[in-house]
Amino acid sequence: MMQFDMTGRRALVTGSTQGIGYAIAKCFAEHGAEVYIHCSADKEKAQRIADEIHGQTGTAVHAVAVDLGDIDAAERLHKATGELDILVCNASVQFRRSWDEIPLDEYETQMNVNFRASMNLMQTYIPGMQKRGWGRVLNVGSVQQVRPHAKMAVYAASKCALASLTENIAMQIASDGVNVNMLVPGVIVTPRNEAALSDPEYRAKVLAGIPSGYAGEPEDCSAAALLLCSNEGRYITGSSLYVDGGMRL
Ligand SMILES: NC(=O)c1ccc[n+]([C@@H]2O[C@H](COP(=O)([O-])OP(=O)(O)OC[C@H]3O[C@@H](n4cnc5c(N)ncnc54)[C@H](OP(=O)(O)O)[C@@H]3O)[C@@H](O)[C@H]2O)c1
Repeated sequence: MMQFDMTGRRALVTGSTQGIGYAIAKCFAEHGAEVYIHCSADKEKAQRIADEIHGQTGTAVHAVAVDLGDIDAAERLHKATGELDILVCNASVQFRRSWDEIPLDEYETQMNVNFRASMNLMQTYIPGMQKRGWGRVLNVGSVQQVRPHAKMAVYAASKCALASLTENIAMQIASDGVNVNMLVPGVIVTPRNEAALSDPEYRAKVLAGIPSGYAGEPEDCSAAALLLCSNEGRYITGSSLYVDGGMRL
């Protein structure tokens, strides 16, 4: 059998209308998976992306919009998608602010979207994967777990919390054929940081901290995601795969 064949697998990639999530969803569809494109509110945008990927790959691609900050987000997503084989918790929010000025609402939004929603999604989708004896969960972290940015303390903390949960759950369900891993990007050029990186001074400062000397592309992450969510990744669980050009070092 061809390696990395995802035919027959059903996958949800949260936050897949752009950036890293989009690249992962497209890559899974290219390898035969049925995919759900997701964003917070603009269902039409998600549908446009879904149609575009379907046109390129011929696989079934659906659209769903649910704000992960909502307390019932996982339940509503499950209603829309039904059971899944692959869950990628990719969506996140981040606010730039000094640690001593972080307001409660920004704290809550970052923790709820980045951590709580991921936990609720795992609680919702993993039991079915366990019953069927096969599943893959991929949580997306950040190099800030080990190289914190002074203006994003809670964002980094939310990813550290998710890293801990990834390992804890992975350990408990490994014998059920369900693997839980973390993809940890460094600086990847996406709509999130395009504006900041277009400032030559800031860009030079950021690149100076990356041993490989350049920022990554979303496809660098989708290749890693494909391994971790495929049959071929069966012996990898509870791992963190850094896709960061060595930035963590
Ligand atoms: N880019 C980097 O350099 C980098 C570095 C380290 C880690 N990461 C991590 O990689 C992941 C993807 O980053 P990215 O740069 O590709 O992000 P991005 O370009 O900002 O895209 C974020 C995606 O998440 C969705 N999203 C945001 N808030 C949401 C919410 N409340 N509910 C539902 N969906 C929501 C967005 O949809 P809407 O348009 O609806 O908001 C969008 O589809 C994130 O977890 C990020 O923390 C990125």
